[in-house]
Amino acid sequence: MHTHASPASLLSALRPRTQERLYDFYKELRSADDLFWDPRLDAWIATSHAVVSSAAGDPRFSSVRYPDIGAVSEELRPLARVLSRQMLYSDAPDHSRLRALLSRAFTPRAVATLRDRISGAVEEIITRAAPTGRLDIVAELARPLPLTIICDLLDVPEQDRPALSSWSDPIAAAIGSSRLDADDSRAASQSMARMLAYLRELLTSQDSPPAPHTLRALLTTRAESTDQDFDELLANCALLLIAGHETTTHFIGNAALALLRHPQAADQLRRRTDLIPAAVEELLRYDSPVQLMLRRARHDLDLAGRSIAAGQVVLLVCGAANRDPAAFPDPDVLDFQRPDRRHVAFGYGPHFCLGAALARLEGAVVLEALLTRLPDLRLDGIAPQWQRSLNFRGLTRLNVAFTPVF
Ligand code: HEM
Repeated sequence: MHTHASPASLLSALRPRTQERLYDFYKELRSADDLFWDPRLDAWIATSHAVVSSAAGDPRFSSVRYPDIGAVSEELRPLARVLSRQMLYSDAPDHSRLRALLSRAFTPRAVATLRDRISGAVEEIITRAAPTGRLDIVAELARPLPLTIICDLLDVPEQDRPALSSWSDPIAAAIGSSRLDADDSRAASQSMARMLAYLRELLTSQDSPPAPHTLRALLTTRAESTDQDFDELLANCALLLIAGHETTTHFIGNAALALLRHPQAADQLRRRTDLIPAAVEELLRYDSPVQLMLRRARHDLDLAGRSIAAGQVVLLVCGAANRDPAAFPDPDVLDFQRPDRRHVAFGYGPHFCLGAALARLEGAVVLEALLTRLPDLRLDGIAPQWQRSLNFRGLTRLNVAFTPVF
């Protein structure tokens, strides 16, 4: 029997030098072993497309993040209680019930009605930057846009939006971190409590009735339900705010960086905007905003020939699976005409990203606007900087320059 103990640890991905060459690092891990025990993370690490996609949808694994709330630190416990009610961290049958609460608002058809609003918001940002010849794509475009759209969906008044963003950040940081100190945990728990109180007020307040046909209007009709159901609904609204925010921000930043580093691919898209939907998929594969999914073995089981003990965690590295040569020939080449687009950037199986249609639409609108409105876009000399996280892959800033457009 193999022991599969390996001195390698996924934690090395956090080193700044490794972040720049992340996919070479994954290649080294995958060539050594596509499923190995990482003693520093106390988890199995899966890096091949076959193992990641099969485990993601495998009912022998659970998505429950905190199986024993009592074992969670006192500071983190209030946040853990809320997360435990969110669909992302639930299993069947709770999962399907929770997903059904919100899924109607995210069908491709429902999302398509948002196109004009997304274009308008992007246009506004680009028009403001155009005469200056400079833009930080992350700070000025990728950060504000997803929040604007999700807040539109929830019909959140303009003046309240900065507060939602300020609560979302510490929560996302806590979810994405592998080591949390007491202060960060407390800040994340408090932010979640504030966000829930705000959402409760938003959905029950009689003062400003919801705009018709918004998600808020749909949810307001449920404010009459039992307290327990309503709390569940609020927890899942909070999930939308958090899940839809940082992920899409990173997608826009990573996609823009990939195009800036591949000017021929960018030129091809300028000439053939019909390739934009395919480019969105390829860019999601090429530099995935969500790098990890977490699953826990419900009982002793066998995965790809390894014995996984009950309760052990398997980290599914989507970012590595998306560069697996067994699934994608020449995986490091950015190719908008790839025949096979079964990437796992939105996950796989029952938890497949609920916001995928929305994220795709936002990505498509942004790419088209950047490519056609600011044609000679180039990196502004400052090295792009990666956020320090194992879970999320994204830039803290992306400065570009272009010939001013008046
Ligand atoms: C689930 C990625 C945007 C809402 C997921 C999962 C991934 C993912 C990988 C599966 C996690 C797992 O199985 O453990 C992304 C990426 C995005 C994005 C890369 C942007 C490019 C969004 C947006 C929203 C959203 C815009 C909502 C407005 C959700 C929700 C789930 C989810 C609610 C949980 C679904 C479930 O448990 O059934 N996402 N996401 N995401 N995502 Fe996204």
